[in-house]
Amino acid sequence: MTAPIHHITHPLVQHKLTLMRQKDCSTNSFRLLMGEISMLMAYEVTRDMPMQLIDIETPLEAMKSPVIDGKKTVFVSIMRAGGGFLDGMLTVVPGARIGHVGLYRDPKTLVAVEYYFKMPSDMHERDAIVLDPMLATGNSAVAAVDRLKETKPRSIRFVCLLAAPEGLKTLRQAHPDVPIYTAAIDRELNDHGYILPGLGDAGDRLFGTK
Ligand code: URA
Repeated sequence: MTAPIHHITHPLVQHKLTLMRQKDCSTNSFRLLMGEISMLMAYEVTRDMPMQLIDIETPLEAMKSPVIDGKKTVFVSIMRAGGGFLDGMLTVVPGARIGHVGLYRDPKTLVAVEYYFKMPSDMHERDAIVLDPMLATGNSAVAAVDRLKETKPRSIRFVCLLAAPEGLKTLRQAHPDVPIYTAAIDRELNDHGYILPGLGDAGDRLFGTK
């Protein structure tokens, strides 16, 4: 069975995304909004996280109460724009570990080329949440998940801010078992692999490099 695409339509997420899309949104505002949206998206992405009961004492009596084991979660940031999601996600799941995948898009072929890969140990015990704000061609997402699967995590989810139909199709064809969480599904890609209407280059807008 193919895993679902979760379109996160919460008004707070949609409102903030509209602010981010606008070309006159400053680098600082873009970064702050990305942090806020990632906290809100973390709420959806972690909705069915495994929980365990622990023994606690309230001021009145002992009880068993549920906790999540944040240490079992690994946020996998696809560099460099994935880093924009990290602070917000970590605010909500502070015990999570972090992995990094470094990929760049060959500007001519749009194929993803890996230059960095570092994950925590014991991946087979962890639930991986892959972060990349833009699911455009899907080539980077597929390459990152291909590589991540070699470490045999317990589960994999993919989170983006914007998805192009082409990227959704490519990722789902290659990895039908990976659920996708996105705040928007945009119209199409242009000839340079940018999402339309999109928000431009997420890395440049986050880090002020253009
Ligand atoms: N990466 C970006 O940052 N923006 C796009 O529109 C597509 C890929």
